[in-house]
Amino acid sequence: SDILQLISVLPKAELHLHIEGTLEPELMFELAARNNVLDKIPYESLEEVRAAYNFHSLQSFLDLYYAGCAVLITEQDFYELTWAYLERAAADKVVHTEIFFDPQTHSARGVPFATALQGITRALKNAEAKLGISSHVIMCFLRHLGPESAMATLQEALPFKEHIKGVGLDSSELGFPPSLFQEVFQLAAKEGFKAVAHAGEEGPAEYVWEAVQHLKVDRIDHGVKSIEDASLCAHLSKAQTPLTVCPLSNVKLKVYDGELVEKLQVLLKQGMCITINSDDPAYFGGYVNANYAFLAESLGLDAESIYQLHKNSFVASFLSDEVREKYI
Ligand code: HPA
Ligand code: ZN
Repeated sequence: SDILQLISVLPKAELHLHIEGTLEPELMFELAARNNVLDKIPYESLEEVRAAYNFHSLQSFLDLYYAGCAVLITEQDFYELTWAYLERAAADKVVHTEIFFDPQTHSARGVPFATALQGITRALKNAEAKLGISSHVIMCFLRHLGPESAMATLQEALPFKEHIKGVGLDSSELGFPPSLFQEVFQLAAKEGFKAVAHAGEEGPAEYVWEAVQHLKVDRIDHGVKSIEDASLCAHLSKAQTPLTVCPLSNVKLKVYDGELVEKLQVLLKQGMCITINSDDPAYFGGYVNANYAFLAESLGLDAESIYQLHKNSFVASFLSDEVREKYI
């Protein structure tokens, strides 16, 4: 249709993408074989992997996502992982991407911070030259490991500051409210990092308030549970705090029902800065254009809304104003 055509040609920024969540089953097996760790992945075949990607909650996904990371060991592994994502992003007309990585997932397995970061940044640099994609890296703290481990990770990252634009907060949400990480985010701000946090994915609207008030984030990742709190929605609209929404992820993890999808459209029309992203595309069944297409098809979005979403992706990005202007 015309709308799908429009989605495929519009340049866009992707702002919520876990690089570990772009590990396609084929590459998972290839790296497992190369690194002699086939025993570390709980599957015999590609079919078995795909069959396992049937989730009922955030945690049921996270268990498999962390298991898959066991095949990522060398700098070259992280390079190939990131490059594979960038080629797919280019095919979807992504011209700027801000990717998350989870250093603690790798350091806990004995893979140094620098190994993961260097593989990722080498691919990003190559993409700038060969695919015309600009990028930033955002390092995320795993909230289930608590604030002390997050603080140690921030300290470990300081020597690599020039390669890292911001800090984020991800992993199991319920029981790990943003306020626990206030001190870590204060230091990160002092060190010049931008700040984002997953909030209001499975957790309540209250966690979104905490991310705004305690962590002083520049964007909220997911944030869809904000819909349950009218005064929060009013605040987010007024402050133009962006939400990086991931529709296919929310459907796969059963975060919301159809009614909430429709409310999203109301918020978009009211001027909230909503953006569309793919989160963990290898696990949730689609890259960024598939996420736009899913929303367009389920909501019957008009061309004006598609334009608004594409524009929001640049407004919400950490690009300099000068570069941003070129796209909006
Ligand atoms: N939520 C929380 N943690 C995550 C996610 C997510 O959607 N993806 C990867 N880690
Ligand atoms: Zn996410």
